[in-house]
Amino acid sequence: MKTILVTGGAGYIGSHTVKRLSALGYAPVVADNLVYGHKEALPQNTPLEIVDLADRGGLKALFAKYKFDAVIHFAAYAYVGESVANPAKYYRNNVIGTLNLLDAMLEAGVKKIVFSSTCATYGEPQYTPIDEAHPQNPINAYGAGKLMIERVFADYKRAYDLRYIALRYFNAAGATADATIGESHNPETHLIPLVLRAAQSDKPVQIFGDDYDTADGTCVRDYIHVDDLADAHILALKVIDRYNGALNLGMGVGVSVREIINAAQAVVGKKVLFEIAKRRAGDPAKLVAANAKAIDILGWNPRYSDIETIIASAWNWEKSRRF
Ligand code: UFG
Repeated sequence: MKTILVTGGAGYIGSHTVKRLSALGYAPVVADNLVYGHKEALPQNTPLEIVDLADRGGLKALFAKYKFDAVIHFAAYAYVGESVANPAKYYRNNVIGTLNLLDAMLEAGVKKIVFSSTCATYGEPQYTPIDEAHPQNPINAYGAGKLMIERVFADYKRAYDLRYIALRYFNAAGATADATIGESHNPETHLIPLVLRAAQSDKPVQIFGDDYDTADGTCVRDYIHVDDLADAHILALKVIDRYNGALNLGMGVGVSVREIINAAQAVVGKKVLFEIAKRRAGDPAKLVAANAKAIDILGWNPRYSDIETIIASAWNWEKSRRF
């Protein structure tokens, strides 16, 4: 049985990946500082080590306690707007924290890491769909920090034989089919949960700009079901000995803010009130992935990412959420 360290395993994408790892017979060990993670999101009997990536001694002890075959590294702050206002917080936690993790890994002889990167490393798209060769010019500290880590991996591969796959997520969404876990951010800033809250509360959701250069004037994103993301991490563990580099995880399908609202209305069976607000700083008009490389290299077969399934699963979670 393979023992996998999952940093940030109590967070949104992390907890869905832990659930799937367990179901597939892996032995995940979660390291999380629980600043944003939820203990309740973990399957029973999953070891949880409460450790912060700033704590180099704590990391060393963690790697002494377990013999890990590989690491899946989710732990990071992920509010784009906050990263612009407070970049120090992001570089310290996301970049220095990852350097600390890598030090502990290499010292313990653990050389495989699957990493949560982001389409935010590309910045303003020069063309769509965005492939992995698209120039990377991030426009916020969140994306810049993730890109720095990608560069660190490439250097560490050359120097220390680190094996790595950086998965560049587009818009993670949805919840697992049995609705036991789902998206739970505080504060919540993501579109789909806010639309579903509007459906429940009769307070309007804000559309951040309807004058973009898109078919209906609202921003277009590439939504990917969290369980399809989770699968890609597990496939990445399997190919990491023969492929190192970055892969886009998206569906290659653009969905506008208005289309999300319409799809949510159909799922909930109720009108969702909205109001047009001003543009949110730093939002590109359209972010859509070219995903051929991930499909080819991982043998990835996303199964849950049509927008109805994403929203229906998110709605089941919203109605019954425990945390
Ligand atoms: N939006 C609204 N109203 C809201 C919330 C969002 O109109 O109340 C719009 C946004 O302007 C955007 C779209 O809905 O056009 C999706 O917004 P999200 O906040 O759900 O997602 P983002 O595309 O901004 O962010 C996602 C990830 C980030 C990642 C980023 C890369 O959540 O971690 O993609 O661009 F960095």
